[in-house]
Amino acid sequence: MKAAGEKIAMLTSYDFTLARLVDEAGIDMILVGDSASNVVCGNLYTLPITVDEMIFLAKGVVRAAEHALVVCDMPFGSYQVSEEEAVRNAIRILKESGCDAVKLEGGEEILPAIRHMVQSGVPVMGHLGLTPQSVNQFGGYGLRAKEEAEAEKLLHDAKLLDAAGCFCITLEKIPAALAEKVTKAVSCPVIGIGAGNACDGQVLVLHDMLGLNQGFKPKFLRHFANLGEEVKNAVSTYVTAVKDSSFPNQEESY
Ligand code: KIV
Repeated sequence: MKAAGEKIAMLTSYDFTLARLVDEAGIDMILVGDSASNVVCGNLYTLPITVDEMIFLAKGVVRAAEHALVVCDMPFGSYQVSEEEAVRNAIRILKESGCDAVKLEGGEEILPAIRHMVQSGVPVMGHLGLTPQSVNQFGGYGLRAKEEAEAEKLLHDAKLLDAAGCFCITLEKIPAALAEKVTKAVSCPVIGIGAGNACDGQVLVLHDMLGLNQGFKPKFLRHFANLGEEVKNAVSTYVTAVKDSSFPNQEESY
């Protein structure tokens, strides 16, 4: 698709029902993101989610996806300790969830693990820029690689990931001009989130783009629906109908 200039559309999903709708709507790739830690589990950060929890979520998504390629995030702590542990966890995720590939955050520092995974037959997606698993080092979720030195390191890392055999790279929250430079410099597709329009594709967190959490509206996010309001209206209408005994009616009864 990169070679053909066809843009790649990716979204996250974390359960069977929504993943089936996302797949039927024609998405190219589904990410079972560790953002599940936030949007599914209600944690402030992505750090607490575990390999077991990611596998549990990914299984439902894999059952739903008939067309899309399913990528599962490797959670914090599952690939940083040693190459062996990284490969063991990646293989566990592929075997037990049935997903097609894994994604992990970082550049040169995790290159040995990435090489080992690729050599073991695990398709790997890289993730550079704002890497939420490192939020405690960054001290927040601000724009990354604004300064020359960090931008140069990011470009260098992207080239290393590409050469190591990553089939794709996610770039999160970096200047659009840098994302364009990276996209042109690597042979694998680059998927952006808050990284401008020159990437080979885009990814968003499903719950965010559906407007399920209206309070979360960073600059890069577009609400493609207002489901938060719809869900609240539906639920309050249901509550009223139960309380005034208009639900269920005769047609809804046996
Ligand atoms: O976990 C996630 O949802 C992600 C996307 C933001 C790319 O990594």
